[in-house]
Formats: sequence, C-alpha cells, structure tokens
Amino acid sequence: MAPNLDLFGGDAPPQQGRLVLGAQSVVLRGYALPMVADLLAGVDAVTAQAPFRHMDTPGGYTMSVALTNCGELGWTTDARGYRYSRIDPLSDRPWPAMPEAFGQLARDAAAAAGFPGFSPDACLVNRYEPGSRLSLHQDKNERDYNAPIVSVSLGMPAIFLFGGDNRADKAARVPVFHGDVVVWGGVDRLRYHGVMPLKDLPHPRLGSQRINFTLRKAG
Ligand code: SIN
Ligand code: FE2
Repeated sequence: MAPNLDLFGGDAPPQQGRLVLGAQSVVLRGYALPMVADLLAGVDAVTAQAPFRHMDTPGGYTMSVALTNCGELGWTTDARGYRYSRIDPLSDRPWPAMPEAFGQLARDAAAAAGFPGFSPDACLVNRYEPGSRLSLHQDKNERDYNAPIVSVSLGMPAIFLFGGDNRADKAARVPVFHGDVVVWGGVDRLRYHGVMPLKDLPHPRLGSQRINFTLRKAG
C-alpha cells in the first residue's frame, strides 16, 4: 500500500495488513475492527464521566481537537503548560478508569508491533470534527520513552503525518481509517507527528467525527 494513497480518490480503505512507517513504527490495518463495539462502549462510558472539551495551549490557542482521558493519568494543557495529571481539571475528580477493552487492545497491538509487555497507565481520547487538525509535535510529556505509543483510529478517515526527529523533516502522509492502529516506539519514539485538517467524509457509525485514542505509559 503506497503511503500516498489518494484518500479521496475513491479507493476502498485498506482493511488488513501492515504499513511499515519506520524501523519501529507500523500501521496495523483494521487491527481494532473486531473490538469496535467494546471500544465505542468504552468511549461512551468515559465521556459520560469526563466529557470531551476544548483545552487551551500554553501559546494561547484553543485546540480544534476536543479531548478527554481515562486511566490513572490524563494529558492536559492550559496556559501553564502541558502535563499529565491524576485529576480531571473540569470535575476535580480522578479520570475515569481505563476500559478493559482499551488495555487489552493496547497490549496486543504493542506486542504485534514488537513491543511486548506494554502496560499503559494513560489514555488520551481525541475527538476530531471536520476542519479539526493537530499540528506536528513530539509526544514527550511521558516519563519513560522506552514504552511505545499505541494510537487507535475510529470513525472518519484522516491523514496522519509522520515526520522525523526534527520538526523540519519531511512528513509522510499516511491515510488512517476506522479500525487502524498505529504503533511507534524505540528509535521512532520521538518522531514528529500530527493530523491534517479533516475533510467531512461521514462515517456510517460515527457520522462526522473521528475518535482517536492514544495509549501511553506516562508515569
Ligand atoms: C496524537 O498525536 O495524540 C493523536 C494522533 C492522531 O489523532 O492520530
Ligand atoms: Fe501525539
């Protein structure tokens, strides 16, 4: 599968197989499809307790992506900076527990990508709507860079940008679809990545949204 597949050219989304992005990074096509019902029930359970919200960046912007978290630690941003916290700043209570299906999928996908023994303690859940985007960044608020990142896509397709170790490195444009799981770690752990502004291509189950969740070992 060519990484520059024209997402909007009428090609059917790839449902299986793997796309190697780097020495220790891979897209597992359709890997989450068998668990979608459990995963969506998990998202509903989490968002009932900790709703999606738009957070502000330290630079003074409001993120176009809405987010929430589950697990022991949740990623937050505000005028004071980016960090992990045990407490949801909206409710002042701990983040909801990580649904069992999330942890199981993360462990299995990590092992399938060459990272056995992954034990995530944090899950950031992102909701994209048409026009939402995520600019190129590194995931480096976690304490332990030995653990990989496991990223699960549900709903509308998106173009995931996967760059290099420097912001200026050219980023591959990788279409990701409902059920795809991207795993990166090891020598690729600090690769820049992001998401291009989403087109409105409503998904049969989720409508005009894309839900992405990333599982990490943050503490
Ligand atoms: C992230 O970098 O946290 C999310 C990436 C994605 O939505 O695919
Ligand atoms: Fe990220």
